[in-house]
This record gives sequence, C-alpha cells and structure tokens, in this order.
Amino acid sequence: MAIKVIVVGTGGIARRHGEALVENENAEIIGAVDVDAAKMEAYAAKHGGKSYASLSKCLSDVDAIYVLTPPSFRRQYAIEAIEAGKHVFCEKPLAIEPEDGKTIAEAAQKKGVIAMTGFNQRYRTGYGRLKDIVASGELGEVYHFWCHRFGMGAGGNGQVRLDNWRTNADLCCGMTIESLSHDIDLMRWILDDEAVTVTGYVHSTVVDLPDFDNSAQVLIKMKKGTSAVINAS
Ligand SMILES: NC(=O)c1ccc[n+]([C@@H]2O[C@H](COP(=O)([O-])OP(=O)(O)OC[C@H]3O[C@@H](n4cnc5c(N)ncnc54)[C@H](O)[C@@H]3O)[C@@H](O)[C@H]2O)c1
Repeated sequence: MAIKVIVVGTGGIARRHGEALVENENAEIIGAVDVDAAKMEAYAAKHGGKSYASLSKCLSDVDAIYVLTPPSFRRQYAIEAIEAGKHVFCEKPLAIEPEDGKTIAEAAQKKGVIAMTGFNQRYRTGYGRLKDIVASGELGEVYHFWCHRFGMGAGGNGQVRLDNWRTNADLCCGMTIESLSHDIDLMRWILDDEAVTVTGYVHSTVVDLPDFDNSAQVLIKMKKGTSAVINAS
C-alpha cells in the first residue's frame, strides 16, 4: 500500500520532491499545505491531492509529511506531525537553532517514528565513492579534510535577492546555515566522525543586508583527530 504524504511548503524544492513522489509507486501525495494559497493549489493540481488551510486539517489521513518550508518553520510542523505518530521528512537544514533540531530528533525517538533530514548530497555517486574509499583505508589515515563551496543559493540563481527568506536573518541566518549544512553533513558522513571544536570567521559584504553572512571560513577539529577546513563564499 502506498505511503500517504502531505507536502508542507510548495516552493522550488517541493517541485523536485513532487516529481519524484509521483513516480514512486510506493508513495501518494494526498495534499499540500502552504501559506501561499495560490502556490499550494497549483501544486496540488499538478502533483495530486487537495490543498489544505492547515496541517491539522489533514494529518489524520496521512502516514508521513514532507516539511519543505524555509527552515525556521520546520519545528512547528515536524512536532505536530510526530506527536500525531506520523513520519517526517525535513529538508536541510533541519532547523536554525540547535535546540529546535534536538527537539525534533528527541520527539521522533520517543514516539518511535522516522524523522529524516534531506541531505541529498549523500546520494551522489562521487561522494559515496569517496566515503567508501576513506572507509576502506586506501587513503591511510585522513589528517585533513578540505571543502570549498563557491556560489550560494541566495534566492535568485546566484543573485542576492533582498526579498527572499534566504537573505532574511530572522528566518534563515544566511549562508552559514543554509549552504554549509551540506558540507558539514558530508564531512561527518564521509569521515564517520564528529566535530569537537569549531572556529570560524563569517563575512557580511552585502551593504543592504548587514546581517546576512555570505562568506565563511571554518576550521574544525574532529574527534578522531582529523582537521577540516570549509571555505564557502
Ligand atoms: N537539498 C537541497 O539540495 C535543497 C535545494 C533547494 C532547497 N532546499 C531546502 O528546501 C527548503 C525550501 O527551499 P525552497 O528553495 O523550496 O524555498 P521556496 O522559497 O522556493 O519555497 C518555500 C515555500 O514554503 C512556503 N512557506 C513559507 N512559510 C511557510 C509556513 N510558515 N508554512 C507553510 N509554508 C510556508 C512558501 O510560501 C514557499 O512556497 C529550504 O530549507 C532549503 O534549504 C534544499
């Protein structure tokens, strides 16, 4: 029987998930929730199901929800679904505050439901090969992990958009949390290790957005001894 899914947040990435879910015979989109009614209705018309004014109006009919909103709204939806015994897929980053992410993870463990964060880079062939090579010992001991990310998704295909949640410090916290979450996840996953100390420097160079960090240099020491540098701009 197909897993019944509600999609919360029907913007850019929801289109990708929608296409994948429609093709998956084990899943069925039964509806969409969004604060933007026109987007939500168009999404439901294209990918299936109905549009709902709130999650509470459809939660009893579903097995799982996809939370594809800006990260600052993740916790409220995830917790509502988990408490109702539903599985939750959240886009990255899971949250904008560590406490929110921890609350989601602990609630899912307590309730015995699955909570997954969409770190899709883990499914890229190249990163998978790198992880296998590191695990095989072929490279010997990894003393240093080095990661560069250039070009940020700031809501405008490379252009910084002033009216997008990605540049709103209250909603997202800028590039450090929005883009670097991919690199931090890959580092932990490939090295099979956890950070013990982190230090870094963050720049805000957009005059009209003094609180928006668009460049970061981060130095991390991992538990097993590897040092890591993430340079993102
Ligand atoms: N894994 C990846 O490679 C990848 C790629 C793109 C985006 N993302 C992540 O997906 C998330 C969404 O990004 P996007 O590009 O789709 O953004 P977007 O702005 O295109 O879409 C966000 C949607 O959420 C809706 N929304 C906003 N506040 C809401 C609320 N309180 N309740 C319900 N809906 C609300 C908006 O109306 C909009 O339709 C972000 O966390 C982003 O980091 C991940």
